[in-house]
Amino acid sequence: MAVVASRGEVSRWLSKYATIFLCLAVFVLIFVLCNMDILEHKMNSTATVPRVNTNPDKHHGFCTFQPLSSTDALEERLLLDSIAWPETPLLPAPLPLEQTSNPANSTFTILPPGKEGGQWQIGDQLKVMINMCDFQGRPKKSGGDVLLARLHNPMLGAGVVGQVVDHLNGSYSAVFSLLWEGSTQVEVTLVHPSEAVTVLRRLTNEQPDRIYFQSLFRSGSLSQTTTCNVCLRPTQQPLCNYTDLYTGDPWFCYKPKNLSCNARISHSRAEFKQNLKEKEEKLFQSGVNMKVSIRASGPANVKVLPKNKGQPKLNVKSGLSGYYYQGMWRSLGGTTVHQFNTSAISQCLKGKVVHLYGDSTIRQWFEHLKETLPDLEEFNLHSQKQVGPFMALDFANNILVTYRCHGPPIRFVDVPTSQLRYIANELDGLIGGTNTVVVLGIWSHFSTFPIEVYIRRLQSIRRAVVRLLNRAPDTLVVIRTANLKALTLYETLTNSDWYSLQRDKVLRAVFKGLNVRLVDAWEMTLAHYLPHSLHPQPPIIKNMIDVLLSYICPRNGG
Ligand SMILES: *[C@@H]1O[C@H](CO)[C@@H](O)[C@H](O)[C@H]1NC(C)=O
Ligand SMILES: *[C@@H]1O[C@H](CO)[C@@H](O)[C@H](O)[C@H]1NC(C)=O
Ligand SMILES: *[C@@H]1O[C@H](CO)[C@@H](O)[C@H](O)[C@H]1NC(C)=O
Ligand SMILES: *[C@@H]1O[C@H](CO)[C@@H](O)[C@H](O)[C@H]1NC(C)=O
Ligand SMILES: *[C@@H]1O[C@H](CO)[C@@H](O)[C@H](O)[C@H]1NC(C)=O
Repeated sequence: MAVVASRGEVSRWLSKYATIFLCLAVFVLIFVLCNMDILEHKMNSTATVPRVNTNPDKHHGFCTFQPLSSTDALEERLLLDSIAWPETPLLPAPLPLEQTSNPANSTFTILPPGKEGGQWQIGDQLKVMINMCDFQGRPKKSGGDVLLARLHNPMLGAGVVGQVVDHLNGSYSAVFSLLWEGSTQVEVTLVHPSEAVTVLRRLTNEQPDRIYFQSLFRSGSLSQTTTCNVCLRPTQQPLCNYTDLYTGDPWFCYKPKNLSCNARISHSRAEFKQNLKEKEEKLFQSGVNMKVSIRASGPANVKVLPKNKGQPKLNVKSGLSGYYYQGMWRSLGGTTVHQFNTSAISQCLKGKVVHLYGDSTIRQWFEHLKETLPDLEEFNLHSQKQVGPFMALDFANNILVTYRCHGPPIRFVDVPTSQLRYIANELDGLIGGTNTVVVLGIWSHFSTFPIEVYIRRLQSIRRAVVRLLNRAPDTLVVIRTANLKALTLYETLTNSDWYSLQRDKVLRAVFKGLNVRLVDAWEMTLAHYLPHSLHPQPPIIKNMIDVLLSYICPRNGG
């Protein structure tokens, strides 16, 4: 099954394909240039930042990618364009920290309402200007800072996300929809200064292997552990190529000396190697320039009045998925979100099979359902605690809930090789139908790799979703998006919100137009009062599950 490739073979392979790559690239470029109008139109909806740099991270050194079909290659090009991030002017080394963005010296200002009377009403848009300054208090002249904005009222349990636009000159605006009556407070947060993004990008270019993985190989009394990854640095050692034959997803290990590639028995996340240049750590200081609030130059609150009669309806062109009110998520996207108590959940899931695939953020849903439903009992499959697979049954109501983690790259420890399964292949094994719900949540383990790795993974999953919906159109497919998390230096270098943001945009774009539903974990974690966490707290999970159940069991008239 596994193919051993020596370094010579790899370079022969590379030179053989180099010409094809080049031709493909030229073809795609011509195609892109000829179709610019269509493309801009298609991509506008996902871009929140003006397009500047269309080829931000072109060089991935030792990462090799399999050729794509022309359609997929074009899509990849468009996706890369749509997430282009503004370049930061190159700063001399060692980094002059005083010239980087400092939230303490930056401010935001609520712009006055556009209409007469100077009052805010439900349905209006609130606009905020954000002016970024450096540590010397000088206004920044370029964009690229990672900013988050939300509007909230803790007393009302209300919160909504604001759309941030980068003007590329050191100022940004945030636009909010006013959705509830009463007092409402603006909050703007700097996640990373633009200079930190430059570092994060460089890390992905230079060290896509900064998270190491390893596999144990064993045969008889011989055993050996070697390093594995999506992208392995070329050495004298031959490689084992575990690229999936069906999905094309790449995975490699160095070949153990005296064992065959087929002797691989388990997979683990190994080490993390940090390799920052002088002073760069200073760009990632909690409480200083990482996830820090920016203060208002004037008031940070506005009072929102009820809508006048006869006024135009709420502006839902905002592209928002929803907002919190009284701690409960309300959808703006069509499906009304209902609250499901224990008996309502059982009633809703009666006769259903729910398959959850993905990382630990989707495993949380399995755990939540198991804890919430007393009759849903986990069947002991003797799986590893973190890894799964898991299965829970409610015999009386004929409910089956399963969880299975996605394939490599996955940072779990001690995953048996037999359980390294790609979601696309799992989906191909489903019958599907009215009683089948498929939930996908795959994002957080991809942050350290070139984004192409994630794009290709999603393309292969999408192909499988299309096949599933083709043979069983009544299958409900739900996708959980990425979420915000608490950031330390380590967490940032391995899984920054900026990495998640970029991947989240790609995820939405890839599944756009398909008959799948989204649970917008990004908005649901940003709009909520609870702190950001890789594994959001129970009140947020409950809201997510309510959205899921509302998709499964929409109520009439709701
Ligand atoms: C910048 O912020 C610091 C606090 O971090 C403050 O001490 C300093 O006075 C500010 N400088 C300017 C020019 O606003
Ligand atoms: C930056 O650009 C925006 C949008 O064009 C403009 O409104 C703003 O005044 C500019 N700010 C500065 C400091 O030039
Ligand atoms: C790994 O295997 C895949 C599938 O067989 C193949 O397409 C690819 O070229 C191989 N990669 C290397 C570096 O040998
Ligand atoms: C591999 O086998 C050779 C010869 O049998 C032996 O000398 C060597 O120590 C073995 N290496 C490992 C890593 O087991
Ligand atoms: C659960 O919700 C349903 C309707 O959603 C309601 O009829 C029922 O009374 C609720 N049960 C409890 C125990 O609250």
